[in-house]
Amino acid sequence: MTSLSIQALVHSPADGLTVHELTLRAPRGSEVRVQVKASGVCHSDLHLIDGDWPSDERLVPGHEAAGIVEAVGEDVTGLVVGDHVVLSWFPPCHACAACLRGEQWLCTGNMCNEHRLPDGGTALSQDGAEVYPFIGVGALAEYVVVPEAAAIKIPDALPFAIGALIGCSVATGVGAVLNTAGVRPGQAAAVLGCGGVGQATVAGLVLAGADPVVAIDLSADRLALARTVGATHALPGDAPDLAAAIAQAAPDGLDYVFEAIGRVETINRAIELVNPGGAVVLEGLTPLDARVPLDAYALAAEGKRLLGCNYGSSVASRDFPALAERYLAGELPLDALVGPAITLPGAIDAFEDMRHARGGRAVVVFD
Ligand SMILES: NC(=O)c1ccc[n+]([C@@H]2O[C@H](COP(=O)([O-])OP(=O)(O)OC[C@H]3O[C@@H](n4cnc5c(N)ncnc54)[C@H](O)[C@@H]3O)[C@@H](O)[C@H]2O)c1
Ligand SMILES: [Zn+2]
Ligand SMILES: [Zn+2]
Repeated sequence: MTSLSIQALVHSPADGLTVHELTLRAPRGSEVRVQVKASGVCHSDLHLIDGDWPSDERLVPGHEAAGIVEAVGEDVTGLVVGDHVVLSWFPPCHACAACLRGEQWLCTGNMCNEHRLPDGGTALSQDGAEVYPFIGVGALAEYVVVPEAAAIKIPDALPFAIGALIGCSVATGVGAVLNTAGVRPGQAAAVLGCGGVGQATVAGLVLAGADPVVAIDLSADRLALARTVGATHALPGDAPDLAAAIAQAAPDGLDYVFEAIGRVETINRAIELVNPGGAVVLEGLTPLDARVPLDAYALAAEGKRLLGCNYGSSVASRDFPALAERYLAGELPLDALVGPAITLPGAIDAFEDMRHARGGRAVVVFD
């Protein structure tokens, strides 16, 4: 097996986002090399680009992707060349206490948050200088090398763009409802922020039988899409009478509020809006240095709960194939969530569009 020369987006603080030709080495040990077929543009990449999560390194963004296994390391046992896979950006190490408890979304043994492969290194370079994969994936690129545990086999019948979304926004949004919160039929919920993650949360709430399902966003585009996905109500987040409109939509109040933005003010708004005894699920990720001043007295006195949500509390090997099956069975309207098909350089503009909340989830499609 040999190295490949690949096209990839690279982010560096000095040059911003640019397309480069990089070298990607062959997979070793239990790694696989995957030809990326579809790669979504997620706001977590935008947090990197905007400096919300500062890094001095040259990183390949992208982590919401699906593709085909092109080469396998000598210790790979569960995948073969040609398998269709969805990539996971939080693969289990299978050795830490969280993994041994079955809570892979809390793994402390992978090096994803350090933008490294599990051995602490990278498979990417340019003219001998190392380039690193953002959250261990780096999928805004023609190929990736990832550990076998980060490539989850899915049916060949699943469209790659749908697989890509399952790899981040759908696993997070649907998982937040089913795994993190455990929403029951008839419970009332609102989703604050209806981008890729928020729309998937709406879809998860519909699947769980929540009623009403109130979508809230600043963008008319996003509100219309949320209605298509199944929200019973769609409300502009900047309406002066938002609380009254919510009271009308949910006369018994909200059992859950899902915050899918990651802003200090909307996190506090979510806490205000939820019923006593209800729970706010924090899906949105703030800039690293943000701190949220809380009305802790009210939180305690009203028995409200604040639930952090990493990756929809997902076990990728269990949940990704299950999400794929539910889509194929017509139970999840994920086609509506796929936005414009774009090229790799087109992702630079797609991040700009994301700042203005235009359109659905842009997906880079590779031939
Ligand atoms: N917890 C996780 O595991 C996880 C996984 C993926 C993404 N995320 C995070 O989730 C967040 C959302 O990601 P995304 O890709 O869906 O982003 P996005 O940019 O596609 O969507 C954000 C939405 O929030 C809306 N919004 C912004 N300010 C608002 C306000 N004040 N009131 C109402 N709506 C508002 C925007 O109009 C937009 O539609 C990001 O912070 C991302 O990093 C977390
Ligand atoms: Zn993401
Ligand atoms: Zn682990």
